[in-house]
Amino acid sequence: MLLDLNLGFVILKSASMIQLFAKPVAEKIQKEVKQRVSRFKLNYGRLPKISVILVGDDTASRIYTQRKGELSSLLGMDHETISFPMDVNPELVRDRVRNLNDDPKIDGILIQRPLPKTFREEEVLYWISPDKDVDAFHPVHAGELLLGLPTFRPCTPAGVMELLSFYKISVSGRLVCVIGRSSIVGKPMAALLLQSDATVIQCHSKTQNLKELTRQASILVVAAGRPGLIDASYVQPGATVIDVGIHRTQDGRLTGDVRFDEVAQIASAMTPVPGGVGPMTLSILMQNTILAAERRENKNSSLLISAE
Ligand code: GUN
Repeated sequence: MLLDLNLGFVILKSASMIQLFAKPVAEKIQKEVKQRVSRFKLNYGRLPKISVILVGDDTASRIYTQRKGELSSLLGMDHETISFPMDVNPELVRDRVRNLNDDPKIDGILIQRPLPKTFREEEVLYWISPDKDVDAFHPVHAGELLLGLPTFRPCTPAGVMELLSFYKISVSGRLVCVIGRSSIVGKPMAALLLQSDATVIQCHSKTQNLKELTRQASILVVAAGRPGLIDASYVQPGATVIDVGIHRTQDGRLTGDVRFDEVAQIASAMTPVPGGVGPMTLSILMQNTILAAERRENKNSSLLISAE
């Protein structure tokens, strides 16, 4: 069907757009994690445990932290949230992380972002011992990922890969455009895609002629952190569009970096916001936590990705 979206050109409307809902994928991962937790408890006589550090009282961070606790309980894992006030001396938090690193009952540690400006991110990245770094933010993990070595995968990009795999959207040999170059999403996303044999274009805030590049891609991953940045004119007809952005509008709704209604007219598959990438992050965090616990008890247990 031909469609004129007032873009100055006519585009082909995709026959039927598939929404890539996280729910069935997250449920599959969580079921598997739950089974591994039961086996772990039988084998080692204890529960895997995650410690989440929360600094300040950012509403979104508080909600995310609460959800981590709820899902840990649901899957049979132990958890704790350690809260600090916004004006805490970073050294005090660092000391606490050191204690957690040394605590044999703790398998995973996570420091909720964003942190107050008093914290130096480039130092914080080294605080958590790599064997307990379930966010996979430690430079050791970033390096291993880039080298294609077995490692923990950062939760959001790994969640995107699982979503694509579940819906049988192959990335091998295809041109994939990633918008964003953060250490949490954009950079590891590109590394995971490359590891799966995609040809990757990485765009960011300084990229010139963004639209020319995004329109070449058969898969577009948007992690720009800018609400509504991507309209239909950025998207190749028939492309798969993954929206990593999540923003609250003035009237309280959640929205992404992609203008869903408009892009849905030409994309062949898209993640909704909410209900797309977001829930995947949490499921992969649980997967990383049971993996960390298994690896601490059994040094031979394998990691999720490996170099070929
Ligand atoms: N804040 C938003 N997303 C994340 C995440 O994946 N990990 C941590 N630690 N903080 C976050």
